[in-house]
Amino acid sequence: MTDTEPLLRAEGLTKRFGEFTAVDDVDFTVQPNETKALIGPNGAGKTTFQNLLTGKLSATEGTITFDGEDVTHVSPHERAQRGIIRKYQITSVYEDETVLENMRLAFRSRASSPWELLRTHDDSDIRDRIEELLSIANLHDEQHTTVGTLSHGEKQWLEIVMAVGAEPELLLLDEPTSGISVGETDDTVDLIEEIRSKENVAIVVIEHDMDFIRKVSESITVLDRGEIIASGTIDEIENDETVQRIYLGEAADA
Ligand SMILES: Nc1ncnc2c1ncn2[C@@H]1O[C@H](COP(=O)(O)OP(=O)(O)OP(=O)(O)O)[C@@H](O)[C@H]1O
Ligand SMILES: [Mg+2]
Repeated sequence: MTDTEPLLRAEGLTKRFGEFTAVDDVDFTVQPNETKALIGPNGAGKTTFQNLLTGKLSATEGTITFDGEDVTHVSPHERAQRGIIRKYQITSVYEDETVLENMRLAFRSRASSPWELLRTHDDSDIRDRIEELLSIANLHDEQHTTVGTLSHGEKQWLEIVMAVGAEPELLLLDEPTSGISVGETDDTVDLIEEIRSKENVAIVVIEHDMDFIRKVSESITVLDRGEIIASGTIDEIENDETVQRIYLGEAADA
């Protein structure tokens, strides 16, 4: 055992809904500061897998180790406290609040006590951090804008930096480009690059857009019907016959 211990290790991770197996005996590791992409056809089990990592769903079988500790039966709140933070596939900002207030709420989400919550609310030192994060999301000039009036892309960026504000060790992004324009997708790539270079964080990004994945991640895992069918570099994955068959099959069905 000369390898460094991964930040996250899922072993034999399985989720069944009744008779149906959505995630099937998955082994998956993430090293500290690594970025990994998780791809696969609709219904492959990507979001379910992510829900197992955050604890939103409990595993039917298998274990999850994070920072060297077994977190398989640890609550979602406690996992977030330990640094497993997700950005949802579906937008989850407060539309009627300002950009700044949403950021404040995100910062408070990792407060461990009411006292800390109160203190965090009043503390001016988080202002610098919020401003820094809003700058990398190109939202610095939108601090007092009501979130409901932002574009889809701007909302996605806000949610991403809200998640970063919660101090993740592992940041889970479920389809960060969903519903946004091509130009905004390029800005999302830039944002993820900034986070990778400035923040001490591992990222698992779920996406369908291969051009996007090529730009943000060197390592790809392919899930199909709950099982990992391939993992490797983007070139390895694109040349993988099983992967080609699945995606060609999907294209033929469409
Ligand atoms: N709570 C649930 N109860 C029953 N079946 C579920 C539940 N959640 C997900 N599933 C099923 O599990 C499978 C995997 O769904 P999941 O949402 O994880 O796929 P996905 O890879 O994220 O797909 P997409 O790319 O469309 O987001 C699907 O067949 C889905 O219908
Ligand atoms: Mg999904």
